Amino acid sequence: MRAATAGRAPEDAELVASVLEGLGTRPKRIASKWLYDAEGSQLFDRICELDAYYPTRTETGILEANAARLAAFVPERAALVELGSGSSAKTRILLDALDDLAVYVPVDISGEHLRHAAAGLAADYPRLPVWPAVGDFTAHLPLPGELRDTPKLLFFPGSTLGNLEPDDAVALLRRLRDVANVAGFVIGIDLEKDVARLRAAYDDPEGVTAAFNTNLLVRLNRELGAGFDASAFVHEARWNAERRRIEMHLVSRRAQVVRVAGRRFAFEEGESIHTENSHKYTLDGFADLAARGGWRSRECWVDDDRLFSVHLLVPAG
Ligand code: SAH
Ligand code: AVI
Repeated sequence: MRAATAGRAPEDAELVASVLEGLGTRPKRIASKWLYDAEGSQLFDRICELDAYYPTRTETGILEANAARLAAFVPERAALVELGSGSSAKTRILLDALDDLAVYVPVDISGEHLRHAAAGLAADYPRLPVWPAVGDFTAHLPLPGELRDTPKLLFFPGSTLGNLEPDDAVALLRRLRDVANVAGFVIGIDLEKDVARLRAAYDDPEGVTAAFNTNLLVRLNRELGAGFDASAFVHEARWNAERRRIEMHLVSRRAQVVRVAGRRFAFEEGESIHTENSHKYTLDGFADLAARGGWRSRECWVDDDRLFSVHLLVPAG
């Protein structure tokens, strides 16, 4: 395994600037990419095992059922480039089906977790070069220059694209379309469904999603010397019907003033920090988004209950 130097980890200064800007606006917000420190990544892995969190097992089933068809599409000696790879658990399904990959490049903002996951993969797939790249894919895709001429399969599972506002999602899709020598793009997208089921997935009875959300405050206390009392905020998952998305919020239980990086922020009782959007799409809605981003659908797979979708896209035109 190569050392994870190909990318650039976000600096503290970026975290400070982003958090101060978000807390200074109304409604207050913090970008969801900051949920993933080492602890946040571990809590996300626990979310994936919850009964209520249907996306992981559903997408895993779709990938398993269609891995052979996917393998037939992928060129020989291709690079597999994954965005937001996390623990790379779903990747193993592709790696088992694609036996002549040239290299696997997992890209993630959560550096410690990425290095650990990459080391595990390198041990389990000893013939596969694994080149982890720490970085923020919304800013820049940290791809090693020597892969320029190598055909690439992009992989973006988990419906992480849904964590971006639609216009930002289109901008990212366009940048990915312009990556040199992209043969195809496999992306997982969560589908619109019964709101009760969605709410339960983002506010589980075990309280793991609440811990994942609240961990953001613990991170800011540790990394920015912030003064959040995490117990003074409560996790809420709200369905925004107009924008077709689940929103995570941290709602202040009382009026309070919190110090962050030398600045003071006043909270009213009931005021929230908006910490994540998780957009849900129809199949047609996602096809439109992909087309705006310069992609066309080659294959689209869903589970029997139509909870989740996996798309094989190719550059349009
Ligand atoms: N792909 C895995 C993990 C999804 S969780 C799965 O399907 O289960 C989302 C992952 O994306 C996390 O590992 C998080 O650290 C990463 N991530 C979120 N925003 C990111 C960004 N802007 N740049 C790079 N990685 C990001
Ligand atoms: C990574 N992302 C697609 C997850 C989601 O479903 O939006 C993150 C998550 N937030 C709460 N639970 C899971």
